[in-house]
Amino acid sequence: MLIDAFARNITYLRISVTDRCNERCAYCLPINGVTWLDEKDLMTANEIVRLAEAAISLGITKIRLTGGEPLVRPDILEIISKISIIPGLKDLSLTTNGMLLKKMAKSLAIAGLQRVNISLDTLDSEKYKKITRFGNFQQTWQGILEAENAGLFPIKINTVVVGGFNDDEIIPIAKLSINHPWHIRFIELMPVANQEDWGPGLPTVEERYFSSQKMHKILSSLNLEELDSSANSGPECTYRIPGGTGTVGFISPLGDHFCMKCNRLRLTADGCLKSCLLVDKEISIREALRSGADLTSFLKNAVANKPIGHELVTHNCSDKRCMSQIGG
Ligand code: 5AD
Ligand code: SF4
Repeated sequence: MLIDAFARNITYLRISVTDRCNERCAYCLPINGVTWLDEKDLMTANEIVRLAEAAISLGITKIRLTGGEPLVRPDILEIISKISIIPGLKDLSLTTNGMLLKKMAKSLAIAGLQRVNISLDTLDSEKYKKITRFGNFQQTWQGILEAENAGLFPIKINTVVVGGFNDDEIIPIAKLSINHPWHIRFIELMPVANQEDWGPGLPTVEERYFSSQKMHKILSSLNLEELDSSANSGPECTYRIPGGTGTVGFISPLGDHFCMKCNRLRLTADGCLKSCLLVDKEISIREALRSGADLTSFLKNAVANKPIGHELVTHNCSDKRCMSQIGG
């Protein structure tokens, strides 16, 4: 088992398989483009699988593949099919912007993927284009329906709430959970890199942060029922609209109790272990991966050094890596 210095049992590994993306969400990537990692610095499929095997041998039971956009990686199906058969793994999921899901959902399910989280910040085509810069709402919406069709269950929808952009859509987005068995999760905007201007028609730095307390207040007219929180291992509080088939949740990284419930470890696309999303410290395992060295000591070391929590309340976050390089 991987137990850290604060008695947290680390069972969840998030692997960023690429920093590249076919969208450029304003809160994730800078307006003037980014320099992608060099192809040779990305982990190969076999290196990713080797790290996954080492992590599972130590007690990781849940793996999520992230990006950038994981579906732009040409060998993503190979990675999934190899990881999905590792004995001891209980849950294999992937976070996507949904743009390629219509085409890929069935193959993903066949390869052994169990479920997907899909980013969806607005139900308005023009706003979708504005926040994602390169995205297309209809294509993503079709992708969500196709994922459902393919049995990638349960579908989770990630909505980053941005003040002055989509705070007026909290109710309609939450209401998707009435008729669809989806888990809608409203996420507070995290100040990870990209704190500059987002360009015309998007809110200023001062307007953007929108607390989950404010989200709750807006949703109070729907009389949300709180669900048993012991069922949640993650940093999420979950509710249901009375009579709804899905759920509504809130992820508030700046709020209370977030860090003490954290059971995660992350691997960046260029092979660095990060024990906290919001703290710069990382351990590069690329050389070890390339040389075939034992990886378990690196994993144990990363867990032993997992910080008690982030310092976002007292410090501004680092700008060393964009979210697309860490994987959210
Ligand atoms: N704050 C909060 N969530 C973010 N994501 C990306 N950048 C940020 C940010 N700055 C979310 C995406 C996606 C997940 C991987 O992380 O919307 O759902
Ligand atoms: Fe791409 Fe996701 Fe970042 Fe949007 S949030 S640019 S979809 S990696």
